[in-house]
Amino acid sequence: MSTSLAWDERYAGGGFQFGEAPNLFLLSQAHRLRRGMRALAVGDGEGRNGVWLAEQGLDATSVDWSAVGLAKAGALAERRGVPISTVTADLSCWDWPEARFDVIAWIYVHLPPQDRAAACEGAVRALAPGGLLVLECFTPAQEGRRSGGPKDPALLWSRALVERHFAGLEVLEVMEGAARLDEGPRHQGLAEVVRAVLRRAP
Ligand SMILES: C[S@@+](CC[C@H](N)C(=O)[O-])C[C@H]1O[C@@H](n2cnc3c(N)ncnc32)[C@H](O)[C@@H]1O
Repeated sequence: MSTSLAWDERYAGGGFQFGEAPNLFLLSQAHRLRRGMRALAVGDGEGRNGVWLAEQGLDATSVDWSAVGLAKAGALAERRGVPISTVTADLSCWDWPEARFDVIAWIYVHLPPQDRAAACEGAVRALAPGGLLVLECFTPAQEGRRSGGPKDPALLWSRALVERHFAGLEVLEVMEGAARLDEGPRHQGLAEVVRAVLRRAP
């Protein structure tokens, strides 16, 4: 079972488990971002995505239940000379702010079904009108590959789950299929993912 303690242990070493560069799909969405937007990087771990959003001039917050990961996120931001806020919280029971964020990055966050439903509801509530949600996660076709992802199939995502959990949002982009990952020691090689960009109505 995934726990905050298990993630603290994974992050306790010196390196960055998923690298220091942002997720490539999030990077590909740079054209949708504007300076001054308020961004939330959900399950941001060691902070690579939150820090990159801050470097684009966004007002970035990273939330994760691993205090060890977030301490590294803060140190990475300081090293890169950008400010980020960090919040240590369990996404399944976090008091998600209302209509607060113009962008939410949901990158490789895999939760048990009930927790996932609660966190998705929270994320939709937290989007400001016109706000964007950018998601990349592993799908069931990833089973047997060594390029990353949870072992428990119940935690995996799919296009259908994206459409169900975010039914209230407009789908701007969605694809389920193969992608080549190069993200630190944990995400390397060909992988099966779902990628989506969704928007709350203005
Ligand atoms: C595979 S890592 C991805 C980290 C980061 N998004 C990235 O792409 O570099 C999953 C992250 O989700 C966090 N996480 C998992 N379950 C969580 C929960 N219930 N509440 C908060 N964070 C959680 C973990 O601590 C971990 O940092």
